[in-house]
Amino acid sequence: MRVVLAYSGGLDTSTILVLLRKKYNAEVITVTVDVGQEDELRDVEKRAYELGAIKHYTIDAKKEFVEEYIFRAIKANALYEGKYPLGTALARPLIAKKVAEIAKKEGADAVAHGCTGKGNDQVRFDITLKAFLDPEIKIIAPVRELRLTRSENIKILSEYGYKVSEIHKKYSIDENLWSRSIEGGEIDDPMAEPPEDAFSWTISPEKTPDKPLYIEIEFDKGVPVKIDGEKMDSVELIKFLNRVIGSYGYGRIDLIESRVIGLKSREVYEAPAALALIEAHSDLERMVLTPKELRFKRMVDEMWSDLVYQGLWIDPMRIHLENVIDSMNRYVSGISRLKIYKGSLYIVGRNSPYSLYSREIIDYNKGWYPSDAEARGFITIHSLYALMAKKVRGV
Ligand code: ARG
Ligand code: SIN
Repeated sequence: MRVVLAYSGGLDTSTILVLLRKKYNAEVITVTVDVGQEDELRDVEKRAYELGAIKHYTIDAKKEFVEEYIFRAIKANALYEGKYPLGTALARPLIAKKVAEIAKKEGADAVAHGCTGKGNDQVRFDITLKAFLDPEIKIIAPVRELRLTRSENIKILSEYGYKVSEIHKKYSIDENLWSRSIEGGEIDDPMAEPPEDAFSWTISPEKTPDKPLYIEIEFDKGVPVKIDGEKMDSVELIKFLNRVIGSYGYGRIDLIESRVIGLKSREVYEAPAALALIEAHSDLERMVLTPKELRFKRMVDEMWSDLVYQGLWIDPMRIHLENVIDSMNRYVSGISRLKIYKGSLYIVGRNSPYSLYSREIIDYNKGWYPSDAEARGFITIHSLYALMAKKVRGV
């Protein structure tokens, strides 16, 4: 049996690589998709061969991840349950699609992934694999099937001389350009403050510079194109913001999250670029969209985020939602001015050619002013239902 395994080089997928060979008697082809995780991918490849892969693929999908996934998330201000920018959720369908492509090319009998039976990732992987391969494709998920625990995995791997780093013994970490997700260990105690060693992209706010950082981000039709007036490559722009904003202590998230599988989990994330870009983008929308557009878009944004979180990237509903999202993002161009200081971010200025804000009109000293009769007429009609209901109901 020939199996294509989605391989990150971490604890779970490394154990699986060994098990697939020993327990399932498979020939294993490993695929590592580069979505901007900060691993040394040459080492990941080396490890795959050491653990017995017959062939390994490293696929650079950073550009595709940014332009086909992250940009859509920015346009949708995508924050699951108001807080999580969906880094892991966005990358899974892309990774699964790449794995499916290799499985086809290699004529694989099965595909495998390292997700547990308790999480969201299994849902995202399985659905996308079924979508891009024969829906009856054999999906092997050894952690789920054998209910492998992390300590068992550490034991299996150490028999192979594989050194598990202290940090990976403690936490389950998933990283890509959009966020770093940290789970497990002490983090599972929802009352305990996340320990400092869980973080690696952000500096503790106590240790950040005493002066604020100012950055200007320019958006063109909803996507970021320039930083401080300079055009930047999309992948570099996100890396740059993660590094710079993270060094000012901004971007940490602590969330009790509703998983799709019916249980709450405590999740810690680092996502400086994602949070900053979404703050800036949604602020710009407040300037260029009408109130009706804004309110409708917030509902659409939330639906989009839920869909992506729940592993339904392939659902046709996403396209319908994106038609609305794109239609409104035609006007989300302009500049957002950010101030970051000791773990907090403030939007301190914005400007857009499509601004519906007019300083001329709002100024109390000049410009447009409704007549007293116009204002009274508006208020009378505006309050008719409410006044009638109050009278009838007496409450
Ligand atoms: N709870 C997040 C999500 O469902 C993060 C999952 C992270 N995965 C991991 N192996 N640590 O998107
Ligand atoms: C996993 O189950 O593999 C990680 C957690 C999740 O998917 O939510």
